Amino acid sequence: MTEQTTPSAPPKMAARHVNVFYGDKQAIRDVSIEIDNDHVIAFIGPSGCGKSTFLRTLNRMNDTVAGARVEGDITLDGENIYDPSMDVVQLRARVGMVFQKPNPFPKSIYDNIAYGPRIHGLANSKADLDVIVESALRRAGLWDEVKDRLKDSGTALSGGQQQRLCIGRAIAVEPEVILMDEPCSALDPIATAKIEELIHELRGRYAIAIVTHNMQQAARVSQRTAFFHLGTLVEYGVTSEIFTNPREDRTKDYITGRYG
Ligand SMILES: Nc1ncnc2c1ncn2[C@@H]1O[C@H](COP(=O)(O)OP(=O)(O)O)[C@@H](O)[C@H]1O
Ligand SMILES: [Mg+2]
Repeated sequence: MTEQTTPSAPPKMAARHVNVFYGDKQAIRDVSIEIDNDHVIAFIGPSGCGKSTFLRTLNRMNDTVAGARVEGDITLDGENIYDPSMDVVQLRARVGMVFQKPNPFPKSIYDNIAYGPRIHGLANSKADLDVIVESALRRAGLWDEVKDRLKDSGTALSGGQQQRLCIGRAIAVEPEVILMDEPCSALDPIATAKIEELIHELRGRYAIAIVTHNMQQAARVSQRTAFFHLGTLVEYGVTSEIFTNPREDRTKDYITGRYG
């Protein structure tokens, strides 16, 4: 595995020698990687190789999993996110997450977006909140479809709209990093294309990491790809190189569909 050339600023996030255990079972082995604003990074690899486990270490979602234990260093702007002084609620606003199955709150479209800004005190008035809600829905590519039905339930939207609502909900609290765990796997091809388009639009503004089992999707949306196998990071590099000229046989076998 080669290191990226080091940019002058510290990376947005860096993982160093990360191990994750579920009880006695080790799910992630010595993974080191960087995530930055100038690229979307895709995590690929066969089912069960640890993609979701590793993604969850990046905003301490593993804290909520009984028996899960994380070792190693993970930093956000150089600050260790596992430091006892880290405010985990704040961390999860800075490092937002979008899940495989869209999970809007059983609340109105407006309140789905307004929820985070309200608890984080980002709005001083109803007018402020209205601006935040509209802006997040615009950035999520959903505003035109929902602006006349903001009081309708978020759960009444189509699956693809619900997923964009969840992206809008993450965006509304001004995150720095957005983690997506197979965000399109429950969606049809048209809804998937919209999410991929949205990822293109969000790139640069946020550091984005996406888990996908769809290699065409990884090739379309990412500029860096990390291939995981049996809990190890086998290969990590520029997406076009990983897909055309992988260094490792295990990567080649996976991308050519020999196993998976
Ligand atoms: N909550 C859990 N408790 C115990 N083992 C788990 C848990 N979640 C995942 N695992 C195990 O950790 C390994 C990696 O799983 P996961 O991160 O879900 O892989 P992927 O997302 O690549 O499919 C698997 O062997 C899985 O069975
Ligand atoms: Mg997974």
